[in-house]
Amino acid sequence: MRMVDVIEKKRDGLKLTKEEIRFAVEGYTNGKVPDYQMSALAMAIFFQDMTTDERAELTLAMVESGDQIDLSAIEGIKVDKHSTGGVGDKTTIALAPLVAAVGVPVAKMSGRGLGHTGGTIDKLESIPGFSVEMDTATFQELVNHNKLAVVGQTGNLTPADKKLYSLRDVTATVNSIPLIASSIMSKKIASGADAIVLDVKTGSGAFMKELDQSKELAEAMVAIGKSLGRDTMAIISDMNQPLGLTIGNALEVKEAIEVLKGEGPDDVRELCLTLGSQMVYLAKKAASIEEARQQLEEVIANGEALNVLKTFIKAQHGDPSIVDSPEKLPEATYKIAVHAKQSGTVSEIVANKIGTAAMVLGAGRATKDAQIDLAVGIVLHKKIGDYVEAGEPIATLHANKENVEHVSKMVQEAYSFTEQKVEKLPLIYDVIQ
Ligand code: URA
Repeated sequence: MRMVDVIEKKRDGLKLTKEEIRFAVEGYTNGKVPDYQMSALAMAIFFQDMTTDERAELTLAMVESGDQIDLSAIEGIKVDKHSTGGVGDKTTIALAPLVAAVGVPVAKMSGRGLGHTGGTIDKLESIPGFSVEMDTATFQELVNHNKLAVVGQTGNLTPADKKLYSLRDVTATVNSIPLIASSIMSKKIASGADAIVLDVKTGSGAFMKELDQSKELAEAMVAIGKSLGRDTMAIISDMNQPLGLTIGNALEVKEAIEVLKGEGPDDVRELCLTLGSQMVYLAKKAASIEEARQQLEEVIANGEALNVLKTFIKAQHGDPSIVDSPEKLPEATYKIAVHAKQSGTVSEIVANKIGTAAMVLGAGRATKDAQIDLAVGIVLHKKIGDYVEAGEPIATLHANKENVEHVSKMVQEAYSFTEQKVEKLPLIYDVIQ
């Protein structure tokens, strides 16, 4: 087989066979196919698209390019959740103990990564003593015993995706539904999940800004998951403003704890209950979504979800007393109010601007090796649809440095106001099954 023929076939809009897709992916991973030929294929896919079969084959070829996590020693149906990412998204921290409390095994492998704040692991590491370092046997034992463990990413997962993603980044081929869907699904499938719940964000702060694009991506991922034998579903949720009120590692942990206490902002609580119900249902712990939701509401009300969180923190060497005394989490030295420059109803909060402001305070990494400050971040006081008087605080910066006027300005610029009445935005736009 010759790579040039594979490229030509896709360029002309024809369907690639399983063997042709394998040839390209394996060859690219082991260096036999050069970057210039793989970029030509990526561009051909960008313009000509792929069928569901081709997308599934591409995903599988990337899964098989590296290690695959074997979770078979863990009892029950392992359901993983993936979010396409957004500002203030702390759902995993509340959701994992929440669904574990109704008996769904959560074997979570998480990363740090770049972004406005740290990843789930960074957030959890704001709990004093908490560690994600453990061997596979301990990880399996903890999930079997406590129904929940979070471990740092190890092994050589989906090397083909890593290489292809870097190539797409510099060849203008990131924004392609078949390539994004197979990239995300390859990582989920290699991580060993039996079933997958996807939270595809939509809006100005999301990877996919338009609802129809977000739906298309969600449908593509659900189809790949199903054709590879994983029960998969997706919800489309709002990212036209940050999720909840906090952006920053320890601040987000605090908000997640509030949700498990039955408190916290409505949007975070509702998103956790929506995603959680789907996870419980896919894990076959409830006969319907409604029954799953009832179970989740019950473990919040009776304190079981909080108990699971405490047990989980203790098992991973963290201090569980932060659950009852969140003031023990890292706290920034300076709390600086950001005031509204005009009166009106909030009509827009550009999520990415708020995220960047949090990163400038030190909550996220701009480069791979940058240090993050777990204590700092932003607490919002007003969301879309809220009325504000000029001079009223719209947010508070939690900072460990004094001169942050430039960050206050960024937050002010992220907000828009109007004299008109503004409807609250929907949280969930669609459910794709
Ligand atoms: N996230 C991924 O993991 N892959 C993509 O292609 C895009 C976003």
